[in-house]
Formats: sequence, structure tokens, C-alpha cells
Amino acid sequence: MTLREAIDARHSVRRYLEKPIEPEKKEALQQEIDRCNAESGLHIQLITDEPEAFTGALARYGHFSGVSNYIALVGKKSKTLGEQAGYFGERVVLLAQQLGLNTCWVALTFSKRKCKAVIEKGEKLALVIALGYGATQGKARPTKAAADVADLTGAPDWFLAGVEAALKAPTAVNQQKFRFLRSGDDVQIEATGGVYSDVDLGIVKYHFEIGAGRKPQ
Ligand SMILES: Cc1cc2nc3c(=O)[nH]c(=O)nc-3n(C[C@H](O)[C@H](O)[C@H](O)COP(=O)(O)O)c2cc1C
Repeated sequence: MTLREAIDARHSVRRYLEKPIEPEKKEALQQEIDRCNAESGLHIQLITDEPEAFTGALARYGHFSGVSNYIALVGKKSKTLGEQAGYFGERVVLLAQQLGLNTCWVALTFSKRKCKAVIEKGEKLALVIALGYGATQGKARPTKAAADVADLTGAPDWFLAGVEAALKAPTAVNQQKFRFLRSGDDVQIEATGGVYSDVDLGIVKYHFEIGAGRKPQ
């Protein structure tokens, strides 16, 4: 499965089976996490066979069940932590999809207190990603149209492909609060408000890059 195919196949999954993640898949995820941490300076952690963070009122409120693996997005406190967590976290999400696993980004509906991530001095837990074998593959949700988020007049194919991939990006409460500004070959993506829109922006930038085959600015 290509990354572009993984984008189409991925939907949020909140109910998981008891089936453990195989050692070779854990190893592949850990290697990608190591690469992401080396590139970004983040302290992303894969936490497996740990059901505590997804027990309790918040997890139930969020309709989560059977979650015993997650990815903790930890990094130094900074203005860019949210966007970095989004970009590099989505790299792990799409690899998980390629490995036949399911995921869900989770900022609120889990227990931060019970989360087993190691948080060093000066670091912060930005959010987590639930991970495992889903009871279902999730389902497609409503989406904005390309023309809602970009001026498509005279737009080249690579730009349209990037915007289409970006519209498949998960965003907090499916808000899709982002906008594309293109001038010739230069593309800027800006968040237009909303909760966790910095995390959304990082995720959206990675999706655009996969669809367009080039990085935005
Ligand atoms: C930054 C961020 C935070 C999120 N936080 C939560 C959360 O706390 N609880 C939850 O159930 N879903 C959460 N989600 C999942 C979104 O609701 C979901 O991605 C969105 O509705 C789009 O659906 P899709 O992922 O199936 O494309 C979050 C997603 C993102 C990107």
C-alpha cells in the first residue's frame, strides 16, 4: 500500500480488538519513530500493552474501548510543538495504516494522568494516538470541497492532488479549518482558527506533501 493509498484507507477507529501488535510491526513503528525523533528533536514514544490511559470517564465519553497501545507525542515546550507533533505523528499514523493497523488521534478523551509516557524536564505531552487492530476499519466522514479551502482558478494538477490529499487529513472535531494560498509554485497553508489547529496544520502539511509530491512552505 502506498502512502497515498494509506490516506484513502485511514479513518478514525475508537474500538479495538484484544489482538496484540506483532513484534515485527512494533519494530517497524519504532524505527519510524526513531527517524522522526532524530529529524525533529521530538520525544515520540510507542507504548504497548498498556490499557490504563484509555480507561476512565473521558475514554468512555469518547466511545473508546479496547485501547491498549498508543503513541505519545512528547516534545520540548515550544510554540512549534503542536505542528511538529501533527506532522511527525501523521508519519507514524500512515505507516501504521500500511502495516494493517488502525489509529485515532486523541487530544482530550484519554487519561493524561494514567498515560505512561516519559516526560523529561522542559517537555510536554502534546497528545496521543490510539493504535491497534480495530474492530472495524472506521468510515468516511463529511468533508469540505477543494474550492472551500483554495482558489482553484488555473490550478495545476499537482496542487489539486495536494489539496485532495489534505482534505482527507484528520482534524480535531473534523473542523478542517485550514486554507491554501498559492502563488505560482509556492504554496502556503494556514490554519484559520479552531481547537488544536496547530496540530491539524502539521497533519495537513504532510498530507499535502504526499498528494502534491512537493513540500509546501
Ligand atoms: C488534533 C486532533 C485531536 C483529536 N482529538 C480527539 C479526541 O480527543 N477524541 C476523539 O474521539 N477524537 C479525536 N480526534 C479525532 C477526530 O475527531 C477525527 O480525526 C475527525 O473527526 C476526522 O475523522 P477521520 O479521522 O475519520 O478522518 C482528534 C483529531 C485530531 C486531528
